[in-house]
Amino acid sequence: MDAAFRESHEKQTSYFKDKEDSCGPTSLMFSVKEGVGTLTGALEIFKQHGISLSFIESRVSQSKTDCYEFIVSCQNINGHTNNIIHQLKERMGSDVLILSRDKNQKHATPWFPRRIDELDQFANQILSYGAELDSDHPGFTDDVYRKRRKYFADIAFNYKHGEDIPIVDYTEDEIKTWGTIFTNLVDLYPTHACREFNRVFPLLQEHCSYKPDTIPQLRDISNFLHKTTGFRLRPVAGLLSSRDFLAGLAFRVFHATQYIRHSSKPLYTPEPDVCHELIGHVPLFADPAFAQFSQEIGLASLGAPDEWIEKLATCYWFTVEFGICRQAGKLKAYGAGLLSSFGELQYCLTDKPQFKTFEPSVTASQKYLVTEYQPIYFVAESFETAKRKLREFCKQIPRPFAVRYNPYTESVEILDSKEKLVRLSAELQADFSVLREVVEKLSLSS
Ligand SMILES: [Fe+2]
Repeated sequence: MDAAFRESHEKQTSYFKDKEDSCGPTSLMFSVKEGVGTLTGALEIFKQHGISLSFIESRVSQSKTDCYEFIVSCQNINGHTNNIIHQLKERMGSDVLILSRDKNQKHATPWFPRRIDELDQFANQILSYGAELDSDHPGFTDDVYRKRRKYFADIAFNYKHGEDIPIVDYTEDEIKTWGTIFTNLVDLYPTHACREFNRVFPLLQEHCSYKPDTIPQLRDISNFLHKTTGFRLRPVAGLLSSRDFLAGLAFRVFHATQYIRHSSKPLYTPEPDVCHELIGHVPLFADPAFAQFSQEIGLASLGAPDEWIEKLATCYWFTVEFGICRQAGKLKAYGAGLLSSFGELQYCLTDKPQFKTFEPSVTASQKYLVTEYQPIYFVAESFETAKRKLREFCKQIPRPFAVRYNPYTESVEILDSKEKLVRLSAELQADFSVLREVVEKLSLSS
């Protein structure tokens, strides 16, 4: 791609127009190399765009040697955000992050990614680095395990959208741990898992090496999911904030850990690991209705206020993580936290827990435990019903626009004007026309 073409391409896809960039005050973090005049050079870029800074703070970079990081708040950056980021990167060699909005700004819309490659920014925003373990973690005193965690964290930290996910050579010890979990769980699925899960699981065994003596590769699974529902995996180095994690789902991207739990406790993990992601989550992302449901939670989260992020994350918890559904009159598990836990998968279908109907307005306020079996589960009649209820609930989110994912450009469209409404209507007409044609053809043939 030559420079001129790249520039025009970036302007079309990355540089949103003034009117669209209506997110209010913005905080940026950028790094500059140690040295006289480097900060002046960076500030000159803001000056050239007429941007005034209301706050500036510096610190030694935690991730790059010989670098400083600066956090600045800009009051009037609308329309210049991407140009400034681009120039900081090009001229100063800076890493740039857009941080959350000032919470005191009541009406400011938090920044959110609009293009799928903007998810790359989250790699630097994890709440805990994957190599750092708490003192009560089973692998805390195991140096070999800690080195291994650092290796996985580095893969995720350096991963960029569009690259192949690195293939990992799992050790014998790691494969043994996987095998123990896999073997224990597969026997429960025919009786305990929902039918969508049981439909996909054999396909993963056939196409993605789901078996006791192999830990499947994120790359193979991501390719498989992309062909079935458009979902992709991307490696993540540690825990993301709820806002960032949900934003990934809006693009049909699931942030997945690649490391495995410590071998001393194969049936317990204090955090998500590759077993939880691949066994628990992946099968249902290959189901179209579930994939749509997951993406809708993600789309609802974009630009939502913090209190709504909490509500959506709670709905996510009681559905995607710990959801139960009713099929042919029986309760079945579809949540990844259940399908990847030998103990809780059995417990959740007994008469010990309490079951309530999934109603987002109620579910969103339910407190939950993260270290014990859930005392309450919410039951969905179907993914379609859950999606419809969630959609109704999300209409209450106070944001002055609607969003729509455009799979052709892999970007989120902000729908906030009559012109965009007309354009959307024209696009939908084409789909309705296909729908009418199918209905006519089917009625003729029946
Ligand atoms: Fe999970």
